[in-house]
Formats: sequence, structure tokens, C-alpha cells
Amino acid sequence: MTNLAVVGGGVIGLSVAWRAACTGRRVTLYDPEPVRGGASWLAGGMLAPVTEAWPGEEDVLRLGEESLNRWPGFARDLRKEGVDPGLAGHGTLVVAFDSADAGYLDILAGHLHSLGRAAERLTGREAKRLEPGIGSVRSGLHVPGDLAVDNRKLLDALYAACVNHQVRFVRERVEELPDAEAVVLAAGAWTGRLHPRLAGAVRPLKGEILRLKPRRGCLPPPSHTVRAVVEGRPIYLVPRGDQELVLGATQYEAGFDQAVTARGVRELLEGAERVFPAITEYELTETAAGLRAGSRDALPYLGALDGGVFAATGHHRNGLLMAPVTADAVVAWLEGDEPPEGTAAASPARLHQKEPV
Ligand code: GLY
Repeated sequence: MTNLAVVGGGVIGLSVAWRAACTGRRVTLYDPEPVRGGASWLAGGMLAPVTEAWPGEEDVLRLGEESLNRWPGFARDLRKEGVDPGLAGHGTLVVAFDSADAGYLDILAGHLHSLGRAAERLTGREAKRLEPGIGSVRSGLHVPGDLAVDNRKLLDALYAACVNHQVRFVRERVEELPDAEAVVLAAGAWTGRLHPRLAGAVRPLKGEILRLKPRRGCLPPPSHTVRAVVEGRPIYLVPRGDQELVLGATQYEAGFDQAVTARGVRELLEGAERVFPAITEYELTETAAGLRAGSRDALPYLGALDGGVFAATGHHRNGLLMAPVTADAVVAWLEGDEPPEGTAAASPARLHQKEPV
């Protein structure tokens, strides 16, 4: 197959288009607003499969780890294209406020050790020594190897790499599948509208996210990604290179609504204040809401649907993390090679094999 259509210009569609174009295929990418129009533009950018996976999501974790291992090579190849995707290795500090949180950190630490990853349990005092701006916490877990990527630099880099390889951009919404030898559906939360087998299997999962900057005299942002669960809601603060702090994210079902609600902003700021009190003096520079592509079991749908049409969607909270493994899987399908480990579990065939979770 030499001619490929990719529907969707977020992190998945751009990664697939770039990697496929590198194999010499003629690639056309369809999206009314590639790069900036979807959830990837609003992502936190944490590449941290263990702290992002929820108990019981072993297949998600396996696929996430597989993709994490591919991230350094993916970033290196992007740099060879002359563009920097903004990969940073500043690690994660997860903080616990009560004994239930602390128990969860023990489980996370055990999990990371079983994967051969470095992770250190810290007392509250040690956590504060590592990250002096945090509030009063009971204990912490330091994961030094966790990566993060600047989502906006990454998307700009992927776009430039696509242009380097003559990917053609058609800035239109796709109503009917394009005529091509192979079509990859990567339109995020909207992918369910593109194929009957995905209808109802991909749903929008709304997330509000804020960006803030320290004003003069404020404490600088934390130097690690800091995560916590506040009143049952996961929260993360991700520092960007230019002093910006990304604070995310709410998660709930609201159809295709993308309004930023006062409640969403309040929940995020209240949670963040417990984690990093100085944030209340920061300038709030951006509020936004995006739609993750939710799947039934938090695992994406990766594989053939029918007659040359492939799904690469439903990445839930893990689109940026899983971009490298997804792009490599698509190239393997097209070349007739063995796809990466962990992708078989993500086959859309499971939609007809088990009850929705
Ligand atoms: N991966 C972060 C989020 O979905 O909020």
C-alpha cells in the first residue's frame, strides 16, 4: 500500500502520518484544524504510565510502558528532522495527604519496583526537601525516571516533520471516508462518528486544564511534575521550560460540550492550592477544555476494522504517551510486520468479545 489517508491531526494522526511518510508512502491528512484543534493541544504531557494507570488496567499499563520505551528514540528522530519536541526528564513527585493516599503510594512503589523502575518512598519532610513549595503532606513517592513532553512543542515538531516528508494537509471535516488504499481513523473523540464499529465505543471525556505563570516575587513552579489525589480527584502540576505551569485536569462525561465551567476551574485551583500553596498568587494565563477520546476499558482501539480501514483511537488519558507505539503499530500493519508488543490486546475485535466494562 503506497497511499495512505489519515483522518485526524492531533498527536496520533500527526505521528502516524509522519512515520508512514518516512517509509515512502504518499500520505494525506484530513483535519479542519490540525495541531491546535483537538485535545492534544491541551494535554498535560506526562509520560508516566504507572502513575497515570488505574488499578485493574494492566493492559493499559503494558502498552504505556512499551510506548514509554519508544519515546527517547521517537524524540531523537524528531530532532533529526530539525525540530525539538520538548522532552524533559524532570521526574514525578506524587504526594499523599492521608493514610489512604499513602497506602496507594506503597502500591505504586511496589509496581514500579516490579518493573525495574526507580521509585523512592519519602516522608513528608523529605518530600518537602525535594520540592520546597509543596504544602503539608503526609508522605511522597519520587519517580525520577518519569518523562514529560511539552505538548505544544511536540505538535509543532510533528507538523514540521510531516511537512518535511510531503504529507498533504486537507483542512476539511471528513464526512465520508477518503478514497485511499489504506485509511487510519485517528479523529479522537469524534472517531465514533466515522465508522459503525466504533459508534458508541469512543466517547468524549471532558477535561478542563489551566495554565499559570508566577508573577514577580512568587515562588517559581515546582521542578518536578507533582501529582496528588485531592477529595477523590486526581490533580497534576506540570512545569514547562518557560516558567509556565500546567494544572490539570478534570474528567467527566458532558457529551461534546467544551465550555470551561466555573466549577471545573474552582476544583482545580482548590486542589492545587493544597498541593502547592503559592499558586494562588500566580497569574492565570489560560483556561481551556478539551475532549479526550474515551474507550470502554481505557485501552485504545488499535487495528483493522475492515477493507483497509484501521482504528488508531480511544487513547483515553494516554494519547501523548502512546503516540510512538501507535505510529509504529500502524507502520507494522501496512508493512505486514509484527506489530509492537501489547498492541494485540488493543485490537478493536474485543468490542464484540466481551461486555463493556
Ligand atoms: N493524561 C492526562 C489527562 O488526561 O488529564
